[in-house]
Amino acid sequence: MSTWHGLIDSPYRRWLPVTDDTPAVSLNEGNTPLLRSAFLSSLTGCEVWLKVEGANPTGSFKDRGMTVAISRAAERGAETVICASTGNTSASAAAYAARAGLTAAVLVPRGRIALGKLSQAVRYGARIVEIDGTFDDCLRVTRELAGHHPVALVNSVGNELRLAGQRTVAYEVVDALGDAPDVHCLPVGNGGNITATWGGYRTYHQAGFATRLPRVWGFQASGAAPLVHGAPVADPRTEASAIRVGNPASWDGAIAAREESGGLIAAVSDEQIFAAYRELARRDGVFVEPASAAGVAGLLDQHARGQLEAGLRVVITLSGNGLKDLDASLRDGYTATETSAVTADVARALRLAA
Ligand code: F0G
Repeated sequence: MSTWHGLIDSPYRRWLPVTDDTPAVSLNEGNTPLLRSAFLSSLTGCEVWLKVEGANPTGSFKDRGMTVAISRAAERGAETVICASTGNTSASAAAYAARAGLTAAVLVPRGRIALGKLSQAVRYGARIVEIDGTFDDCLRVTRELAGHHPVALVNSVGNELRLAGQRTVAYEVVDALGDAPDVHCLPVGNGGNITATWGGYRTYHQAGFATRLPRVWGFQASGAAPLVHGAPVADPRTEASAIRVGNPASWDGAIAAREESGGLIAAVSDEQIFAAYRELARRDGVFVEPASAAGVAGLLDQHARGQLEAGLRVVITLSGNGLKDLDASLRDGYTATETSAVTADVARALRLAA
């Protein structure tokens, strides 16, 4: 019998901005698997752990923040919540809004989000607007709308509630490992999750639950790496659509996480991202969406550059589920043998020994 009832009703509640008056709108998010990667550990000489955030109810880490944001919106009597998204935030917002009986309005860049994520928003009953522009355009319009209409903004920008929820990933890691790791790797798009993950480690450290702090290593796709270049990118490009962001809203938070932790924010190519994406599934049995492999690609890149000392304990956030983006998965093509339904034919197709 599971005793887990989602983040708001978990031991982490004390760190969340909720009160007894807050209705807990939950899908039992959080408490995700932390798996040791034999493959990455032996390859790097480190102890590498994978935080599988695709195991959250809508398939990404966004649920951690959304349970808080939607619960508080419901408490305030909001009727409509609004967000811009590369796909996962909209899927999560739509699900939690459905559960709370609220309307979700989601703005997405037309033709640029994975179909699984769009399908989620459709199925959860969101009001969907496809914008002829980038995610950054969607976010600009969303903020303007939220300033002039009675809607609750549930993007992490200016929404401390989302970040507070997303901090819980660090609490779970420390509780599972007994202390903070040496390095925490993760993909970076709009900058919210690196901000929240670092904030979580700091909170736990200050409270005495961890004796140390990790270095935070964030990775952007090289065609969408404004934080690496130090300037916004007008036309961000990467096949990892979730992190196709040219002007991160949590810019300052991301840079602070890097500076305060003595970490780094670096770029990895799409080739590196997709190589990591394939290897994670084939070697560790974990199917992530392409953007989620950026942390793994980044770790391997640092290792190849001689920047990763052996013996470190490393945690990598795998931010979203591979099932969200089947186009990306099948783009390579695949091989399968067609046979009749005769057992002997199937045995031959499988090249099974007699
Ligand atoms: N990984 C995945 C799967 C994401 O969906 C995102 C962001 C990130 C990593 C990066 O996190 O933005 O906090 O730096 N997705 C947002 C969205 C932009 O709209 O779903 P971040």
